[in-house]
Amino acid sequence: MVANGKDVVWEAGDANERLAAYDDAASRTMDPELSVEDLGIDRSLRPKRLEEYIGQERVKENLRVLIEASLKRGGTLDHILFSGPPGLGKTTLASVVANELDVSLRATSGPAIERAGDLAALLTNLEPGDILFIDEIHRLNRAVEEVLYPAMEDCFLDIVIGKGPAARSLRLDLAPFTLIGATTRTGLLTGPLRDRFGMAFRLDYYSTEELAQIVVRSAQKLDVSIDSDGALEIASRSRGTPRLANRLLKRVRDFAEVRAQGYIDAQVASEALSFFEVDEIGLDVMDVKILTLLADTFAGKPVGLSTLASALGEDPGTLEDVYEPFLLQRGLISRTAKGRVATKRAFDHLGIPYPL
Ligand SMILES: Nc1ncnc2c1ncn2[C@@H]1O[C@H](COP(=O)(O)OP(=O)(O)OP(=O)(O)O)[C@@H](O)[C@H]1O
Ligand SMILES: [Mg+2]
Repeated sequence: MVANGKDVVWEAGDANERLAAYDDAASRTMDPELSVEDLGIDRSLRPKRLEEYIGQERVKENLRVLIEASLKRGGTLDHILFSGPPGLGKTTLASVVANELDVSLRATSGPAIERAGDLAALLTNLEPGDILFIDEIHRLNRAVEEVLYPAMEDCFLDIVIGKGPAARSLRLDLAPFTLIGATTRTGLLTGPLRDRFGMAFRLDYYSTEELAQIVVRSAQKLDVSIDSDGALEIASRSRGTPRLANRLLKRVRDFAEVRAQGYIDAQVASEALSFFEVDEIGLDVMDVKILTLLADTFAGKPVGLSTLASALGEDPGTLEDVYEPFLLQRGLISRTAKGRVATKRAFDHLGIPYPL
């Protein structure tokens, strides 16, 4: 395990392979054609310091105060929870915090920690002040979670050695550490775990202007020529999500290299994105499928999550985590007691007459 305080470095060994597979799968749910290159770009474009991190002003302001206080005091930072839809910068923020504090960050994820012993091994290897980052923390199993409680609260572990009557419990003191948890589903976090975080921040979708800044910054890093209207065009089709903005930039760059001598302006961006089936408000093929099912196939009637998922051939969890939040936020669907409903805005967007 190398923790260089510069980038997120995932834990080595078995857990790491599980995690890498998991991380890729999680990203792929946003984009089934995601290449290894896409994942590399994700990492290389990740801001390293707070001042490079665009948007989420309130979160940044709070973090700045916490970080400064902790640096002055010389103590460890309180445990922090980041929540919000995929690709908004939770993992990035965790590594930014580590960089600002100049401490090591060890990263893992809920599903990668199978046994209490796996977590114990991670915790006992932390140096004072280190950050332990647990992605998808709502997916920790109960036995593992219970090990975490005393560790978070009082920096110790109770380990049971042996079985049956010979079993005895051993108390291990831990170095003071900061846990940073990330989750796309705060609702699935247990109360006791949520309560043990000193601070919880929810990340929101980015504005088009903020995304345009991210696109410009990424274009500089990737050595791509783009004008400000080109950046705005990509930004407005990125569903409020930096990860998507970076991916679309890459697609548009490839298109521009073939069709426009590599220069991206609004028209090239617009042509490229239509070519890749991303519509004017950033909806992709899957989003349009969802809306069409609700509005057309089910004629605007409420549809339960599992019915919708099986009609789409998609996993209900993915539907709920990855696709729905944006459609809800844009007012294209709403959730009712009876199920999901396409709104008038969705009918208008699809050009289907509103029945009600
Ligand atoms: N505020 C930001 N400024 C600039 N780039 C950003 C910002 N937030 C995220 N990014 C870019 O978006 C990519 C995705 O962010 P990140 O991996 O941190 O998202 P996430 O919230 O952890 O997603 P997931 O829930 O899927 O794990 C990053 O690699 C980074 O390049
Ligand atoms: Mg992440």
